[in-house]
Amino acid sequence: MSNIQKTLSIIKPDAVERNLQDQIKQDFINNGFEIIKEKKIHISKEEAESFYKVHESKPFYNDLCTYLSSGPIIVMSLQKDNAVMDNRKLMGATNPTEAEEGTLRKKYGISIDKNSVHGSDSSENAKIELDFFFKN
Ligand code: CDP
Ligand code: MG
Repeated sequence: MSNIQKTLSIIKPDAVERNLQDQIKQDFINNGFEIIKEKKIHISKEEAESFYKVHESKPFYNDLCTYLSSGPIIVMSLQKDNAVMDNRKLMGATNPTEAEEGTLRKKYGISIDKNSVHGSDSSENAKIELDFFFKN
């Protein structure tokens, strides 16, 4: 049975800065994702804090929010069968040094904080995160 889903993907500042967005978008397309919506934005620290609220209590929260608001990002709505989990697989582990060969974070990630891409971790969070960037 098919399970068409949408998920939120973000190409983070380190990747946009290195002009990797077209290559990363092509990786998504080559792996069966359809880019339904996309926009290039530069969010404020406050918006980043709101987006990453789930990580509020973590030691890396402040740096993470400073980082995500440090430069332009590309936010995308990706669609395919099992998009949420397939995107997590394509991204690879949070720490690029632990990510499998062929994954986006292995290919493009610089470090655990500059790991090039974000992806929703559940279909529930995908809806919340897509609404965050694409409502209206
Ligand atoms: O992005 P992912 O869902 O794989 O990881 P997360 O645990 O939800 O953490 C969100 C983001 O925080 C990561 O993508 C990292 O960029 C950053 N992070 C960090 O800077 N240092 C850590 N020890 C863990 C996460
Ligand atoms: Mg996460």
